[in-house]
Amino acid sequence: MKPQTDHFAHKSKSWDMSSRRVQNAKRIAQLITERITLTPTMEVMDLGAGTGLLSYFVAPYIGKVIALDNSPSMLKEFQDKSSEFACQTEVIEADLSQTTPHRTFDGIISSMTIHHLEDTHALFSKLYGMLPSGGFIAIADLDLEDGSFHSDNLGVYHYGFERKALEAIAQEVGFREIAFTTANTIEKPHASFSVFLMTAIKP
Ligand SMILES: C[S@@+](CC[C@H](N)C(=O)[O-])C[C@H]1O[C@@H](n2cnc3c(N)ncnc32)[C@H](O)[C@@H]1O
Repeated sequence: MKPQTDHFAHKSKSWDMSSRRVQNAKRIAQLITERITLTPTMEVMDLGAGTGLLSYFVAPYIGKVIALDNSPSMLKEFQDKSSEFACQTEVIEADLSQTTPHRTFDGIISSMTIHHLEDTHALFSKLYGMLPSGGFIAIADLDLEDGSFHSDNLGVYHYGFERKALEAIAQEVGFREIAFTTANTIEKPHASFSVFLMTAIKP
């Protein structure tokens, strides 16, 4: 197994101070609650949870959020504020490109993370394997962009995604009821970037 580099170590402390990031997570969470029936007994994994922005806004609707991330520094921020979450929390430090947790979740949510994982097909297969029949994914990320979203593209494997291409991968892996909605538009001084929410069910 390759040694891990924490690409977010220099960003973790100030991550939540960006109102743009907070607003983005809030809008994605709002849309997730509109598209997926969440219940107070559900255990939901937040893939690439980071400091927990998305988890925090989804927490009031579920029983437990499991924050999976490969960045110890981001997870420390998550843990430091976990007592403020409106549901139980658990943290798993793992690199999903290299390992697969041997457990299942009622659903998997994610915000702005899958562009950091190179092999999207392998990722979706793993997610599929971590769900029971009827389990859901609700994944938000950038629509195709020109590579200018991040000031530093280290650890960025995809400049956003084409919705049709993601749909084809999800379909091939076995997901059904695949749907896309625009969750947000992130305004930066040089350009606007749209963020999609993809939802799908394991039949
Ligand atoms: C752009 S941040 C998004 C954080 C959070 N979801 C949010 O919206 O604020 C991407 C997160 O994905 C995590 N990540 C990147 N590659 C990963 C991998 N292979 N396995 C697990 N987590 C990963 C990073 O450590 C980081 O916390």
